[in-house]
Amino acid sequence: MTDAPETTPSRRALIGWGGAGLALGAVAAGGAVAMARTGDDVEPAAAETGAAIPFHGERQAGIATPVQDRLHFAAFDVKTDDRAEFVQMLKDWTAAARRMTAGHAVGEGAYGGLAEAPPDDTGEALGLKPSRLTLTIGFGPSLFEKFDLAGQRPEALAELPHFAGDNLDKNRSGGDLCVQACADDPQVAVHAIRNLARIGFGKVVIKWSQLGFGKTSSTTPEEQTPRNLMGFKDGTRNIAGTETDRLKKFVWVGEKDGPAWMTGGSYLVARRIRMHIETWDRTSLQEQEDIIGRDKGEGAPVGKAKERDKPFLKAMKPDAHVRLAHPETNHGATILRRGYSFTDGTDGLGRLDAGLFFLAYQRDPRTGFIRIQRNLAIDSLNEYIQHVGSALFAVPPGVRDKDDWWGSTLFGKGA
Ligand code: HEM
Repeated sequence: MTDAPETTPSRRALIGWGGAGLALGAVAAGGAVAMARTGDDVEPAAAETGAAIPFHGERQAGIATPVQDRLHFAAFDVKTDDRAEFVQMLKDWTAAARRMTAGHAVGEGAYGGLAEAPPDDTGEALGLKPSRLTLTIGFGPSLFEKFDLAGQRPEALAELPHFAGDNLDKNRSGGDLCVQACADDPQVAVHAIRNLARIGFGKVVIKWSQLGFGKTSSTTPEEQTPRNLMGFKDGTRNIAGTETDRLKKFVWVGEKDGPAWMTGGSYLVARRIRMHIETWDRTSLQEQEDIIGRDKGEGAPVGKAKERDKPFLKAMKPDAHVRLAHPETNHGATILRRGYSFTDGTDGLGRLDAGLFFLAYQRDPRTGFIRIQRNLAIDSLNEYIQHVGSALFAVPPGVRDKDDWWGSTLFGKGA
């Protein structure tokens, strides 16, 4: 279910239409103005392909919904101390997100408006399909030091502890808020972040961002499991988007968990994990398989024949990744992984700056990521990876309808 485009043309739209007579005619024709002006001509294609993911709902899209192929993730810092101004920006972001996820241009579009003013939309996504774009917002711990929000900060949103082997770059870590843009077309994801940053000008600034390609986990087990840059199937034992019970148990914040504004939300851990690809590529197949605890071709657990066979952990080396990450080794801890591969050129020393941009959603990071990551301290994979960026966000529940907005449960409906 996607939103119909806003049909009431603003004054600026009318003037920009190229003459009062035309404008009046357009008003009579209702939505036609918005359709012609904003690049809404992509709508029929979207309807045909079903390529728009509903923006409204109890939960935000981009968590349990099918994982798209591309990512543009951005962490922002807040620059304004004016709460009303920040809340207005969240409302403006929501309006733009509603349109972009449906395949429409932002505001009054990329052309045809006042020649003297920059257009509302930057234009590079005109003519492209919605591409299953999802935009998911999260609030970082540092946001709660602003706007008198300290009392609203969830206990679960404690700063992540230092983990063995962490080599975190503060320029790639943290952030007051984040937006995860996922789409099947990279240009659609990049366009979305760019336009949100543009709307936020003067109120927020991008602290760091990450492009990702090739999902490394899926929420759709019926599809072929994707592979990460180490060449292994990744996401075999992930939570599927259809597993309502496990999502409820491990991903969604329940009513009793508190605080109330987070009910129906989740917590997102983002880790930029660099892979020492060159070293990995010189490692024997046997060793690679021992390290992961699964075989490279089929993805079957050690000693088993098929990818979906139940892992027998004791058959694996004690420091195999799957053995250490498995719920049985972590008091049941289970997370929903939604990461992407990245390659950001080379590092000046002839090595690829590549790896896994790890994204994991969970009901509580203390019993999710933190527990598992602590257990991974002795992971044999650690010789080949390094965590270089880290962030944690509280992801509020979904935007319910056209009058609702991102963050309304935290900042108050009447704000
Ligand atoms: C570059 C780093 C990493 C690589 C290459 C990697 C790779 C893999 C692979 C190939 C699997 C087996 C397939 C599957 O069940 O998905 C797997 C499983 C898993 N990984 Fe990772 N992983 C990495 C980092 C992490 C981190 C940081 C965590 C969490 C702290 C994690 C948690 C898990 C979990 C929970 C499983 C499923 C275990 C099971 O239920 O059997 N991984 N990983």
